[in-house]
Amino acid sequence: MPTNLFSPFKMRGLTLPNRIVVSPMGQYSGDENGKATEWHLMHLGQMSVSGAGLLITEATAVQSTGRISKHDLSLFSDAHAEALAPAVAFCRKYGGAKVGMQLYHAGRKGSVTVAWEGQKPIAIENGGWPIYNASPIAFPGRVDPLEMNEAQIDETVRAFAAAAQRADRIGVDLIEIHGAHGYLIHGFLSPLSNQRKDKYGESLENRMRFALDVFDAIRAVWPERKPLGMRLSATDWAEGGWTLDDSVELSRQLKKRGCDFITASSGGATPDQKLKVHPGYQVPFAERIRKEASIPTMAVGLITEAKQAEEILVKEQADLIALARGVMFNPRWPWHAAIELGEPVYYPPQYQRAHPSMRGGDFLKPRADT
Ligand SMILES: Cc1cc2nc3c(=O)[nH]c(=O)nc-3n(C[C@H](O)[C@H](O)[C@H](O)COP(=O)(O)O)c2cc1C
Repeated sequence: MPTNLFSPFKMRGLTLPNRIVVSPMGQYSGDENGKATEWHLMHLGQMSVSGAGLLITEATAVQSTGRISKHDLSLFSDAHAEALAPAVAFCRKYGGAKVGMQLYHAGRKGSVTVAWEGQKPIAIENGGWPIYNASPIAFPGRVDPLEMNEAQIDETVRAFAAAAQRADRIGVDLIEIHGAHGYLIHGFLSPLSNQRKDKYGESLENRMRFALDVFDAIRAVWPERKPLGMRLSATDWAEGGWTLDDSVELSRQLKKRGCDFITASSGGATPDQKLKVHPGYQVPFAERIRKEASIPTMAVGLITEAKQAEEILVKEQADLIALARGVMFNPRWPWHAAIELGEPVYYPPQYQRAHPSMRGGDFLKPRADT
């Protein structure tokens, strides 16, 4: 019997060949200006031939002041798009995975060293840059952010749309807006980081305004046939913070505006978050959002086994399964999952003889319906 994990999934004009998604993973490997390098060709290239149905690029900055580190992959100019184009072209030419891109602004978490140098704050006089948030409340241990004024908010909304247009031009199939992990959009959503008194603060409706404006601005320029979704931190895991109920409400609002999927992540708004991590710990969030907002969801977070992934889909807790560390540890995870579940999966012709059944020297014969 065909499995759910290896069944196609259609959103608008895009059909993913299966439900396995390579989750965004920051590589901090852009050049000094955030332009893609050879690393991205290798990283995205290998994920595109992994057998996954979709890969989503790492968080890609829409403004230079919206970067975590100066080496974040960025798309705030046409030259940045040009630098990334060969990696996307490679994925489209050789890969089986559709190519998604995560767009983001780092908000109050910006201007730090790269992950493996400890994300230490960099002051402006040492080469850092001014960082922005809904309110001027620092993330503990980081640079003090400035409060965004309305003109800056509008400029940032336009920057998201401009980056989406560049992504379209280089052949990206899908966009995930990064509304999670304490970055700018989440900075507006969470009462822990948003204490504004204007139309972007206080009530839930007002705190959701920036996220919805970004969504609308991208949807207006992003081709109708291409899916657009949002990653949320479903809860802040902290008293007085953003809650799962809030996430359900935001997902309903997004659905009304044409959102195609919600990725249910969590946390990142405060170092005081109280969470217990265990296999599939965020799956219940994907399940509730899916049921109560009637929108497809992507589950992520310690999903490491093929049968675990299949069970989440069979139980209708989510529609898509994203892996980050598991697929970085083993970029052939989808191939192994396919063998375990007895399914065919994409191999580039160059690698077909790796399949255990081909050790006699044959080549894989594609299934009639693929
Ligand atoms: C190296 C690394 C980089 C990450 N970068 C991003 C990112 O750019 N955007 C994002 O939304 N999540 C990012 N994440 C979170 C993952 O996408 C994923 O949600 C998380 O690791 C849980 O999934 P996992 O248990 O399969 O690793 C990153 C995770 C890792 C390990």
